[in-house]
Amino acid sequence: MPTDSTEDPAALRDWLRALPKAELHLHIEGTLEPELMFELASRNGIRLPYADAQALRSAYHFADLQSFLDLYYAGAGVLRTQRDFHDLAAAYLARAHADGVVHAEIMFDPQTHTARGVPIETVFAGLASALREARDTLGLTSRLLLSFLRHLPEEDALRTLEQALPLREAYADLWIGIGLDSAEHGNPPEKFARVYARCAELGFRRVAHAGEEGPPEYVRGALETLGVERIDHGVRASEDPALLAELIRRRIPLTVCPLSNLKLGVVDDLRRHNLARLLRAGVMVTLNSDDPAYFGGYVLDNYTASATALDLDRDELATLAANSLQASFLPQADKARLLDRLARAVARP
Ligand code: ADE
Ligand code: ZN
Repeated sequence: MPTDSTEDPAALRDWLRALPKAELHLHIEGTLEPELMFELASRNGIRLPYADAQALRSAYHFADLQSFLDLYYAGAGVLRTQRDFHDLAAAYLARAHADGVVHAEIMFDPQTHTARGVPIETVFAGLASALREARDTLGLTSRLLLSFLRHLPEEDALRTLEQALPLREAYADLWIGIGLDSAEHGNPPEKFARVYARCAELGFRRVAHAGEEGPPEYVRGALETLGVERIDHGVRASEDPALLAELIRRRIPLTVCPLSNLKLGVVDDLRRHNLARLLRAGVMVTLNSDDPAYFGGYVLDNYTASATALDLDRDELATLAANSLQASFLPQADKARLLDRLARAVARP
């Protein structure tokens, strides 16, 4: 079903919104909108170095990943209490629901919070209460991926894992896996071989950021040394044809985030993003928002911007939504039910 190039953008957006989809690459700390940041700062008696939310938003110009991370970690400093983490996640889930997200696999960075004296229990309890509420009230399911910060030593990640493990049973319905994020350059996957091996023994699902700013070798390292099932970003894998062939053969999903890539200078123009080429070559590409409060768009914005910039037709857009459900960590029966719902939504005009 090709998209007519004269198709009304509002009609395409409505059609895309109605497609049930999963969001698989989302940092909950990256959903902290400036307005909520100011509200939490005021609640917690913290002074922010900006006059107001608008002034903060206008500071969101990033030269690269590191310049974004500096602001992102500073912003997370307003998150102190269980209620703060709840309100953060509840706001994201309401927003995602409005975009037609039916399932979200959400990364969180405990080290960002424990380093400031926030107990890991507070983080888990606040996030989990919002996730369970969204399941019960919106029918939106979710899971948590505890992400390690790769700019810190592996020992720090191992300590964080040990702090979190006593909570595993209480959050068994949500905490199913681990991830790896933060500054990629100079922090190869091999640095985290031990903590990933331990997580594999413990039965956690494993993902990792690789090939965002870092080279294709980091994608290979994440697959071979860390044993990940999905690659977050992975767009630089296209520089290595043998690696690309392996991703296609093994059906390794890439959680691509086009607006993030644009904002962080991974691509200079969305029209030159390689996601359409990857998709057409047979890579299991999914579309996601990464840190939507900072990058100017939630998941539906990523679909619409990509559709327009790359001339994706409706069949390709439906494939991206189907890939998101297939690549999720949901049980097979849930995937089948959602894929069935998707097939019915795709057929609607
Ligand atoms: N943490 C939050 N967003 C990130 C990204 N896009 N890359 C690496 N680490 C991150
Ligand atoms: Zn990310």
